[in-house]
Amino acid sequence: MQRRPQVMILGTGRAVPEKILTNTDLEQMVETSDEWIVARTGIRQRHLAEPGAALSDLVVEASRSAMADAVVGADEIDLIILGTVTGDMKFPATACLVQEKLGVKNAVAFDISAACSGFLYGLQIAEGLMMSGGYRRALVAGGEILTSMVDWEDRDTCVLFGDGAGAVVLGPTDGERGLLQACMHSDGAHADLLYNPGGGCIHLPTAENAAAKLFSIRMEGREVFRHAVTSMGAALNQVLEQAGLSADDLDLLIPHQANLRIIEAVAKRFKLPMDKVYVNVDRYGNTSAASIPIALDELRRSGELKKGALVGMVTFGAGFTWAAGLIRI
Ligand code: ACO
Repeated sequence: MQRRPQVMILGTGRAVPEKILTNTDLEQMVETSDEWIVARTGIRQRHLAEPGAALSDLVVEASRSAMADAVVGADEIDLIILGTVTGDMKFPATACLVQEKLGVKNAVAFDISAACSGFLYGLQIAEGLMMSGGYRRALVAGGEILTSMVDWEDRDTCVLFGDGAGAVVLGPTDGERGLLQACMHSDGAHADLLYNPGGGCIHLPTAENAAAKLFSIRMEGREVFRHAVTSMGAALNQVLEQAGLSADDLDLLIPHQANLRIIEAVAKRFKLPMDKVYVNVDRYGNTSAASIPIALDELRRSGELKKGALVGMVTFGAGFTWAAGLIRI
């Protein structure tokens, strides 16, 4: 059954580092080829932060742009939620650093660790807090400098990831527009299929652990692929069913941009033509929590998000975590 939306997107923004790493560049670093990467993933290039760059700076750039688009000032933001697993430091939360850099004085700010699902988790948590806690203007962002934890000698993973940030400003709905339905899920049973073992309290920052590459991403690609397709399909189905809608009603689907083959498999399951499915993984690689808000901003600025359009969003990431949402633009 359709419920009335309570919150809507007032503005969007994105930021990516200037430097681009192409597949041809990667050919010089590991035994791979542009042909293999494009055929298996659809990725042609990714943006790369300089070593030691602050994620908070990327998130601030994306947030300023979203706030300008929404015409919302720093004094109006009362909630900041950032999805990331590559924050500036272990603590404080990068969202607090973003708060300070933006000059937001009267807000609560915190990070969410849900890997690629961080943005859609953030959106739903923000909606819940706005409905129950009286928050009026929320900044919800997803940002990653995933290349800071990539092992550049591991061709299985180093070709997949890129850096970037995206942000939206949420406010109360003006009627029928906004977040119609959403769901989030997790299952820790598969934590060992995609993880970064180091940096926590188990594997201390010793030279031995660094040499064992415990501070880099570890992934069972095929298994992650299989779970991603199944779980993204289930989550999208859930929100469509809850809204009493079908995939035919979607004007556009924004799937998490991890791999073109995952995106195509999800589209096929719902018999969605690819011209209704947004793809930018070729230009950004997998930016994890940033991928959906970056896509939202590209679509909004190119005028492709038409008023009244029904947009689906769906994601999957480490944890495992997965989530979906339906928005009436
Ligand atoms: N260049 C060339 N060859 C490679 C590369 C590379 N970069 N990486 C792996 N290979 C080789 C493998 O060594 C293997 O060789 P072998 O047959 O001689 O053993 C061969 O290619 C096939 O490897 P597979 O792992 O079976 O390849 P697959 O078709 O599964 O593609 C990939 C690998 C792209 C990682 C895929 O499994 C995938 O995308 N999985 C999802 C992973 C993902 O998206 N993770 C991101 C986080 S989760 C999320 O965002 C959804």
